[in-house]
Amino acid sequence: MSQPSVISTDHLKVCAQPKGLDPLRMPAHIALIMDGNGRWAKARGLPRMMGHTAGVEALKSTLRLCNKWGISALTAYAFSTENWSRPEDEVNFLMTLFESVLQRELESLEREQVRIRFLGEIHELPEKLQSLIKEATEKTCLNKGIHFNVCTNYGGRRELVLAAQRLAKRSATGQLDPELIDENSFAEELFTSGEVDPDLLIRTSGERRISNFLLWQLAYTEIHVTEILWPDFDAAALTLALADYQSRCRRFGGLDPLINDHSQS
Ligand code: IPE
Ligand code: IPE
Ligand code: MG
Repeated sequence: MSQPSVISTDHLKVCAQPKGLDPLRMPAHIALIMDGNGRWAKARGLPRMMGHTAGVEALKSTLRLCNKWGISALTAYAFSTENWSRPEDEVNFLMTLFESVLQRELESLEREQVRIRFLGEIHELPEKLQSLIKEATEKTCLNKGIHFNVCTNYGGRRELVLAAQRLAKRSATGQLDPELIDENSFAEELFTSGEVDPDLLIRTSGERRISNFLLWQLAYTEIHVTEILWPDFDAAALTLALADYQSRCRRFGGLDPLINDHSQS
């Protein structure tokens, strides 16, 4: 009897990964705090804005590598609710940069099967950016490749408050029994609804804090901090972060699953 002619492509993803990494222990979801653009520029005697422009290139190549290496989701912090407190010309520059990058890159996102979404309070962004976001989200929503979540005007506390407000409103109108609110139904109200929690958080530029990023979702995420400034983050730096992740023992509050007899240890 002849075999069905379905050819599995799973092995291709495995082969595409860098040497030294275990293809079976790759994170499904990576969260990224892209920090250090300003310091990168300052170190070169350039204006801060040049650091942001260079940072876009690092993000493009990181996204491409994650897609190629079979990582299912990448959630990147592009602009926090606190970043509005920066000088007006920097904020304006960033908004215009987001617009031009979206316009320029949409075709390649479509071609590379990336599904892009923007997490945060999008309605507070400039109108032009909002309509580009809408277009990119709609055009890529059926894509089968990596889920690329760009956190823009995102704040973790704000996200939690908005979720609580939505649940409270439904409870007040009798649509929801408050006793039935659990961790799953709460998570469904977050911007990240439908996405698994990040396995790995990478923060560049050496800062050891999470700066209001994914406060709920990072509960059991492994954290990798690198001194590298974001525009310098490359394939070697990503490989190091992944190797660090693979060296961790994730216990989730339990005991090491690789040790059978815990009574002796
Ligand atoms: C991260 O780089 C980009 C954004 C927050 C938009 P920074 O602009 O924070 O760079 P540093 O931390 O000042 O070096
Ligand atoms: C975090 O970086 C926000 C983004 C990367 C978008 P910041 O530079 O704003 O964080 P802090 O101020 O050092 O905590
Ligand atoms: Mg910073």
